[in-house]
Amino acid sequence: MSEPQAPDLDALSRVVAVINGKGGVLKTSIVANIAGSLAAKGNMRVLAIDLDISGNLKLDLGLIDPELDDGGKGMVDAVWSGTPLPIVRNVREGLDFIYGGRNLEMLGQLAKMPSAEDLPAGSVAAEFATRLAEVADDYDLIFMDCPPGNGELQDMALAATRWVLIPTKTDQASWDGLKGVGPRVRRARQSNPELSYLGVVVTAHNPAATRVRRNTKARLDEVGESVPLMETFVRHSETAAHDCRSRGQLAHELARDVVASRAQRLTALTARRKGDPASNVIALPTALSGSADSLAGDYTRLAQEICDRISAAETAQDATAGEGQHR
Ligand SMILES: Nc1ncnc2c1ncn2[C@@H]1O[C@H](COP(=O)(O)OP(=O)(O)OP(=O)(O)O)[C@@H](O)[C@H]1O
Ligand SMILES: [Mg+2]
Repeated sequence: MSEPQAPDLDALSRVVAVINGKGGVLKTSIVANIAGSLAAKGNMRVLAIDLDISGNLKLDLGLIDPELDDGGKGMVDAVWSGTPLPIVRNVREGLDFIYGGRNLEMLGQLAKMPSAEDLPAGSVAAEFATRLAEVADDYDLIFMDCPPGNGELQDMALAATRWVLIPTKTDQASWDGLKGVGPRVRRARQSNPELSYLGVVVTAHNPAATRVRRNTKARLDEVGESVPLMETFVRHSETAAHDCRSRGQLAHELARDVVASRAQRLTALTARRKGDPASNVIALPTALSGSADSLAGDYTRLAQEICDRISAAETAQDATAGEGQHR
């Protein structure tokens, strides 16, 4: 039998996996909002991939077209049969998307089958990395939303990414989930040696809790190697997050609508007072969460910090390569 063909790992240098074994730490919200805000503001081409069986990422992006939603089947075919990844173009300007969902369960099962070794790249994880590398050049950045359970899917993501971003709340259970990422990353480095931590980002956080943030920084050593704490955190903002998901809007889109809805409410109130005969049927537009703007600001800062860190790493790598050439 011929040797497995390793994926082109250099092509994957702009891929970020958002991962934590604990559920509900804002992995999906971060992927949607960071990918969406970079595509909206940064003249960037961005790809967001839903690697979760729950398929929640589409909700945050407001994608409800059942014709396009294959529940992850196209990704299974891409890995098992070598078809191209099922990319849905321009779900927002500059943003492409790959649907996840219940069919991804099959990938976890296929990964455990002995015949997975007969795939051209030698495993389900390496095959996924190969498919992603084939399209990665089309994007400035790629973000993957990883499932909280399903180790096989997490390993698949880690085989196909350069960067690991770990969202965590500051409770013990989220912390335990975070510590579980370390051994997986170390194993993944056997085939993906440049896999690196982008950082840990504290989520659903009270901005006033500075002592808690300091403690978090001190505790990061427990992961077993140096993992940076992102300076940006994502604040606790339950109503804004709820409004976002139920309306299929990103935080910056909701923030924009909050301004419009306030103006409409004022206009409607004035019309009512003036005794316009139709005034008693003028409906007041829904009041939307006023904290959407602050939440959107957190995501903008986090997106900037992610870009800064990747850019600093690439500059350092170029400098090292340059020194090597001059020797
Ligand atoms: N800033 C926020 N403050 C409070 N709650 C939030 C915030 N952002 C999102 N949420 C809510 O927290 C819940 C979990 O968010 P999300 O789905 O992004 O987490 P997750 O880590 O992807 O979860 P899972 O592991 O189940 O996939 C959702 O109900 C979401 O609406
Ligand atoms: Mg999720």
